[in-house]
Amino acid sequence: MQQTIENIRSKALEAIKNALTTDNIEEIRVEFLSRKSELNNIKKNLKDLSNEEKRIIGPLANKVTTEIETQLNEKYQELYQKELNEKLEKEQIDVTLPGSYLPYGKTHLLTQTINEISEIFEGMGFSLVKNENSPEVETEYFNFDMLNIPADHPARDVQDTFYTTVAPNVILRSQTSGAQIHEMLTSKPPIRVIAPGRVYRNESVSARKNNLFHQIEGLLVDKDITFADLKGVMNEFIRIYFGSARPTRFRNSFFPFTEPSAEIDVQCIMCNGKGCRVCSGSGWLEILGAGMVDPNVLRNVGIDPEVYSGFAFGMGVERLAMLKWAVDDIRLFFNNDVRFLKQF
Ligand code: PHE
Repeated sequence: MQQTIENIRSKALEAIKNALTTDNIEEIRVEFLSRKSELNNIKKNLKDLSNEEKRIIGPLANKVTTEIETQLNEKYQELYQKELNEKLEKEQIDVTLPGSYLPYGKTHLLTQTINEISEIFEGMGFSLVKNENSPEVETEYFNFDMLNIPADHPARDVQDTFYTTVAPNVILRSQTSGAQIHEMLTSKPPIRVIAPGRVYRNESVSARKNNLFHQIEGLLVDKDITFADLKGVMNEFIRIYFGSARPTRFRNSFFPFTEPSAEIDVQCIMCNGKGCRVCSGSGWLEILGAGMVDPNVLRNVGIDPEVYSGFAFGMGVERLAMLKWAVDDIRLFFNNDVRFLKQF
């Protein structure tokens, strides 16, 4: 019996000595010290031994148990430290390495352009219309009727305007000019507002035209407003937006809701007026429509044209961005290709 215990002891100590991991230690612990272990069996069966044997075997079994326990714990500590060090070594972070690159987003060129133009007009005392005065889903009444555009006007043609199935008169607005009407119906002169937003036209998509694009509408109504005021404001806007006093040209034009009306051209930024592909050889680029608010429109919204006058203008945001940044295809604004977007 004594020899058996001795054997267990040397087997256990040998195993502990050869253990390589803390997991090994746990296996050894189970093998030599668990309830089902040989040593434990001996202790359980002590009662069957003679008194003399009990006196020797009992203390010996306990001594060996304690010895194995102590050895196991020591070795466990040693291996645990070793494993921990290895782990720390492996997971070490080199803080001197360069960090990983996180791509950051930026404001879309269209939004940048809208913000920039809005700020220029805000600097001249204009403010943004309230959202509810500039709805994208509009009625023909605001988009056309109130703007002096008669029912048989070609602009209403289903080929140009997107009609909805909501109701016969509900459309996607084809211009931001309806915001003029909303504004004049809800506030009294003096009025000085701009209304940027999306407009929709049922046209075939090309490098120059998209079904969806953006306009910025402007409206100023007060006493004694003349065409000279319109000209001054437009020239100031162009000077600030294009960064220098570019030559401009006011061309006689027609809009049902302004009289007189003009289209404003800016000297071609590509060829400085010499004539090139972009300006179709003319040396000029059209950037906006404008005019004095038609007396009929003022009457429609209950403003007395004998007392008040005003001007309105509308510009295409994509067009202005394309001119400033030499972008040659309007579809680039809507394709969401980061290679394009990150350039601005
Ligand atoms: N709404 C016109 C267009 O879309 C532009 C415009 C606005 C003209 C205001 C005159 C006054 O072409």
